[in-house]
Amino acid sequence: MAIISTLVQNASATNLFTKAVVAIVLYWAFHILSQLILPKNPKAVPTVFSWVPFIGSAIEFGKDPIVFLKNCQKKYGDVFTFNLLHKRVTACVGPDGNQFIFNAKQNLASAAGAYNHMTKHVFGSDIVFDAPHSIFMEQKRFIKAGLNIENFRKVVPYIIEECNMFWDKYDKKTTVDAYKMFGSLIINTASRSLLGPEIRNALDDGVAQLYYDLDQGFRPLNFMFPNLPLPAYRRRDQAREKLAKIYSGVIQKRRAEPDVKYNDLLQALMDATYKDGSKIPDHHICGILTAALFGGQHTSSTTSAWTVLELAHRPEVIKALRQEMIEKLGSLQAEFTYDNLEVLTLLECVVKETLRLHPPIFNMMRRVVADKMIYDKTGQEIPKGNYLCAAPGVTQIDPTYFNDPMVWDPYRWINKTDPVHKMEVGDDANIDYGFGAVGISSRSPFLPFGAGRHRCIGEKFGYLQLKAIIGTFVKKFDFETVSEAAPKPDYTSMVVVPSDSRVILTRRDL
Ligand code: HEM
Repeated sequence: MAIISTLVQNASATNLFTKAVVAIVLYWAFHILSQLILPKNPKAVPTVFSWVPFIGSAIEFGKDPIVFLKNCQKKYGDVFTFNLLHKRVTACVGPDGNQFIFNAKQNLASAAGAYNHMTKHVFGSDIVFDAPHSIFMEQKRFIKAGLNIENFRKVVPYIIEECNMFWDKYDKKTTVDAYKMFGSLIINTASRSLLGPEIRNALDDGVAQLYYDLDQGFRPLNFMFPNLPLPAYRRRDQAREKLAKIYSGVIQKRRAEPDVKYNDLLQALMDATYKDGSKIPDHHICGILTAALFGGQHTSSTTSAWTVLELAHRPEVIKALRQEMIEKLGSLQAEFTYDNLEVLTLLECVVKETLRLHPPIFNMMRRVVADKMIYDKTGQEIPKGNYLCAAPGVTQIDPTYFNDPMVWDPYRWINKTDPVHKMEVGDDANIDYGFGAVGISSRSPFLPFGAGRHRCIGEKFGYLQLKAIIGTFVKKFDFETVSEAAPKPDYTSMVVVPSDSRVILTRRDL
């Protein structure tokens, strides 16, 4: 009896297994054949061929998205759709593609639709993408207003002080991971400049750990699965709530001492009002501060690391940077100020060139929310629900716009002989979406800070902080990379970081 029952069980298990294999083979065959033989809508955007259903082009895209997008552009033209773990992503590359996505009307394509499922867990509710679009634009206006020249003049000494405190503890000779080193420094400089002395002083008392836990909510895994029952997700949510309490405490204390003056973003937000005359609620202030801090944290850390890695292979540029400081500021001992950093042209071009070749955010996403969008140049249709992908990281290394695009050459921004400098763009730089004029045409091939309604409002602060930090670093250290080979970009985190950023530092006698 027992033998018969075992035989029956084995037979049905084998049966089930065979059925599963047949189903998978049929599904796979349908996936391949449907791409090859099913009639196509002539207005549809071409779809990138993929061998594996569900996975789609995820492996190729994940390995090197820039190479993937460039290869697809060659094969399919500027507009093509690819499957990414069951999400349909339509890439629109080239200056026209940038303009199409960055200038899209809010009722056609939405950034909130692409990002909010992840960002709301980090910034909290009613903030940024979780707020109605017009309120978010007002929130951007508050940040932009807080990042003004008067405040910048005050923050440069803080940044330099933080750099000195940080690096003066280093031994005469030491090996560091540049990305980690700049990450630790920038959380100090940005907290001090944007959030104020109270939060900066609390960093060592657990606030830095809370930022770390919150930051763990900004990984590609969170983009795919924003809410899993895992400890890291619980720590993220607890950190957000604890930080909100700490910020609220600081706000209450400042309100109790109205005569004390602060020049930071926190104070600017406390003093601002929405268009309807209402004060900004504390939980909005907390979320906006976190968004501003996170907006600049990894972007600036990786840009600093790439800059130092590029400089390490170009000693003549390091020499020229020091020479520029001596000529324009009198000596290497001269303290940086907001005004004297403004005249260091080569230093600015060094940062700009790093942002061209190594943009921390090389692509930006939106989601089609209208029934369909029509790509204006060709009349091709993009259906509702598709993600849109703009990729300035592709145009920034396109030889049509930049000579020898893979060469890191800061002098290209001084000599201005690249085709990009003669190119016609649009007059959309003057559009105001609610936070002041955008400042750059979305048709530009150089868009490391994005364009249009979602353009970065931290660009000026970002440059200021980067120039102060890189300038101080170049004064303080001689440096070389551990490995001769140029580091490869690592695309597995939310910003593009160098795969190996170890550098050997030797303190200089000034
Ligand atoms: C090197 C430094 C930085 C880089 C490369 C950078 C890059 C970018 C990019 C590419 C976008 C557009 C995103 C999109 O269109 O989807 C953006 C938006 C934004 N950035 Fe930055 N950023 C930097 C620093 C900062 C800083 C320091 C702050 C705050 C003080 C900041 C705050 C923001 C905000 C609030 C937005 C608006 C997002 C939106 O409207 O959807 N960023 N940034």
